[in-house]
Amino acid sequence: MPASRRAFLHASAASTAGLAFAKTSTAAEGRMPIALVGCGGMGTNHLKLLTARKDVELKYVCDADANRLAAAAKIAADGGHGVTPVNDLRKVLDDKSIVAVWHATPDHWHSPGGILTADAGKHVYVEKPCSHNIREGRLLVEAGIRNKVVIQVGTQARSTPTVQEAMKRLHDGAIGEILVAKAWNSQLRRNLGKVKPSDPPAHLDYAMWQGMAPEAPFYSNRVPGMWRFFFDYGAGDMGNDGVHNVDVACWGLNLLQLPNRAAALGGKHFFDDDQQWPDTQCAVMEIDGADGKTRQFIYEQRIWSPYVQEEYENGNAFYGTKGMLVMGHTVGWKLYGERNKLIEQMTGRVDLAGHHTNFLNAIRNGEKPNAPAIAGHVAAGICHLANICVRTRKTIAFDPKSEQIVGDAALAGMVKRKYREGHWAVPKGV
Ligand SMILES: NC(=O)c1ccc[n+]([C@@H]2O[C@H](COP(=O)([O-])OP(=O)(O)OC[C@H]3O[C@@H](n4cnc5c(N)ncnc54)[C@H](O)[C@@H]3O)[C@@H](O)[C@H]2O)c1
Repeated sequence: MPASRRAFLHASAASTAGLAFAKTSTAAEGRMPIALVGCGGMGTNHLKLLTARKDVELKYVCDADANRLAAAAKIAADGGHGVTPVNDLRKVLDDKSIVAVWHATPDHWHSPGGILTADAGKHVYVEKPCSHNIREGRLLVEAGIRNKVVIQVGTQARSTPTVQEAMKRLHDGAIGEILVAKAWNSQLRRNLGKVKPSDPPAHLDYAMWQGMAPEAPFYSNRVPGMWRFFFDYGAGDMGNDGVHNVDVACWGLNLLQLPNRAAALGGKHFFDDDQQWPDTQCAVMEIDGADGKTRQFIYEQRIWSPYVQEEYENGNAFYGTKGMLVMGHTVGWKLYGERNKLIEQMTGRVDLAGHHTNFLNAIRNGEKPNAPAIAGHVAAGICHLANICVRTRKTIAFDPKSEQIVGDAALAGMVKRKYREGHWAVPKGV
């Protein structure tokens, strides 16, 4: 086993719950061998930041699209990283020297790819939403614990100093007791049109792209990027941009389990095109706290708005017994007291590089990952619950301990999804 790999493994083997890592001087030295899977829009953002770092050595880029793979390999080479381009995640996982893998694939690959990576003993950075359904999100959490690896979810607001400051205020009681947290996603998306199935482009390994999702023809308005608006690959815009704000709401509420009750309505009230998830959505959920009190979570989505809502395009509001805090996690926040007196405000940009640094520090020296799998699972799970309500037009009673929908046998199976039978990436135990 190469020395660098041994050093990083040594650090993780000392973990007790997958999140605490012993400090070793050797693990803090050298450049950590890493890989990136999924080199599209967000993957390229990661790639540019990672290749600029002095503390990692990018050894693989992996993509199902040969054109994107070639473009990524060039960016890496220009940044001084001699990467091996591959189109199959398993080739990355087979290389024992790789310590950590970034996943910026479409959502249906997140938990399956993350679980395979954790089971290969490697640390996982996985984009949000970290799951495509509630059950596989829980399996991702368990894979991190079982393998004693760090899992960091791509909700970089958690490593953004402005947002951290807001959370300190909330947790220190600046607005009193927070009874309601709201998240919204209000922006102008585009019409995806209506297309018929066609042959995939020659540069795309479409079977690899689809992976464990049910077999379906290729549609040119899904790949790349727009797959997030289709049932089999994404969780709509709530699981896409919305999940950032859902996650901030959970953070403010200190929420590390799924809600007890969920209701949501929504639909395609604006776009006349192929996209399947709602463009207009409103969800309300209740969380029964350990203190015997119930908190409320609200989510609003209008992805046809050529204006921003309450000052921020994608935002949060926390309503407390003494004041409220309104925030756009990429912009800043304002804290109001009684009679709407502005008490404090702060501005600042989101810190993706800082999120990478926190992940690497968690591997190297036991710093706590800011966006651990459990936080990602809860935020993604809330999106899945809201989406189940919208698709079925039913209210859900949910048991956060067993993570099962209760009292409605017809809904119970919706905590999972259908996988392609026998595919190598289907998570075990799903
Ligand atoms: N954290 C953020 O702020 C942020 C912002 C944008 C996107 N994202 C997330 O990043 C992820 C990617 O989004 P995107 O907009 O870049 O999508 P995209 O479609 O542009 O990129 C996905 C890439 O993954 C590749 N891919 C698909 N299946 C693969 C497989 N089996 N193996 C290897 N590569 C595979 C595709 O070919 C494509 O290049 C999504 O989960 C999205 O939610 C996060």
